[in-house]
Amino acid sequence: MKVFDRFNRPLQDLRISLTDRCNFRCQYCMPAEIFGPGYAFLPREQILSFEEIETLGQIFADLGVKKLRLTGGEPLLRKDVAVLIQRLLHIQGIEDIGLTTNGILLTKQAKSLYEAGLRRLNISLDALNDDVFHSLNGRHIGAKYVLQGIDAALEAGFNVKVNMVVQKGINDQEIIPMASYFRSKKVTLRFIEFMDVGNSNEWKWEKVMTKQEIWEQLSSHFNLEPVEQAYFGEVAKRYRYKGEQTEIGFITSVSESFCSSCTRARISADGKLYTCLFANEGFDLKALLRGGSSREEVREKIIDIWNQRHDRYSDKRTEETGNNKKKIEMSYIGG
Ligand code: GTP
Ligand code: 5AD
Ligand code: SF4
Ligand code: SF4
Repeated sequence: MKVFDRFNRPLQDLRISLTDRCNFRCQYCMPAEIFGPGYAFLPREQILSFEEIETLGQIFADLGVKKLRLTGGEPLLRKDVAVLIQRLLHIQGIEDIGLTTNGILLTKQAKSLYEAGLRRLNISLDALNDDVFHSLNGRHIGAKYVLQGIDAALEAGFNVKVNMVVQKGINDQEIIPMASYFRSKKVTLRFIEFMDVGNSNEWKWEKVMTKQEIWEQLSSHFNLEPVEQAYFGEVAKRYRYKGEQTEIGFITSVSESFCSSCTRARISADGKLYTCLFANEGFDLKALLRGGSSREEVREKIIDIWNQRHDRYSDKRTEETGNNKKKIEMSYIGG
């Protein structure tokens, strides 16, 4: 069965956050001043169990979801993620599972994740230069630890993409070094425009490095050509180095929003359903599951919510909405 929203967008992807905790404190996501020792993370009993995640995965697959993405916080902080992946891969209708990570735990976990059947990893890295990277990740972690994680993932056989959030005056001087490095590794690098997610990252238009501005740097160093979109709703705009297979991509939530093809639902680590990354409120699916509702009732509720959906936040973004302080945090909902 397929479910459509008010703008005729099908429900196709489900992004599941496994935890709201992270071992990094990226300035643009979980600034250390706010996510410090006193911060109230979700208590353990509020976090969905693997059984509950599996049940929701089955219900969503039945509604047409083919693609799952596991996110966080940092999803690899959750124990036994490989076991969860094995279970999710068994769900009928699920064709693809990806995981988004900061990469630091991959030296330990890449092999077991691959053995569990996971094939796709999106790994965040914002700079190669350690002075820049230290200040961005808030935990004084050197880029080499992420690079080692990326190497471990490549060695295990993963299809790896690297995500770089670019902020003007902060890490835009890293665009060319990052592109050169990952070109030599034959790894796709995606440039992400700095977004106004959450309430704590001091977002301003002036800090956004747009696709156009990044392109200006890249095109003076490299010969790039566009690549056809692979499927409806693909987030990144893709290019390849001429004469090579290696690609780069842009995620242009700010300068060229892509809400009209947004097919993604999101579930927070505590089981709330969100139909937009910039939502203020979600629907508590966990309360239904734990309150004894039948699968059919949960399913009906999800259909109802998706049918009512009319989110298009990035299409309508202004400086004012960007600084609205009621949004959910990115670390809570996942990217
Ligand atoms: P694949 O294309 O399947 O590899 O995954 P992806 O690119 O959707 O996943 P990833 O988690 O790597 O996302 C990359 C960036 O795109 C993250 O910073 C996300 O926050 C952003 N992004 C993904 N989906 C959306 C969306 O629906 N809206 C907005 N505004 N940003 C999104
Ligand atoms: N703007 C853009 N991307 C962000 N991410 C986290 N916060 C932001 C933000 N404010 C990205 C991370 C990671 C993905 C999960 O989301 O870098 O690649
Ligand atoms: Fe952690 Fe990713 Fe947020 Fe950085 S962007 S703090 S790695 S969840
Ligand atoms: Fe989808 Fe909301 Fe992002 Fe638009 S802003 S693409 S509706 S998640």
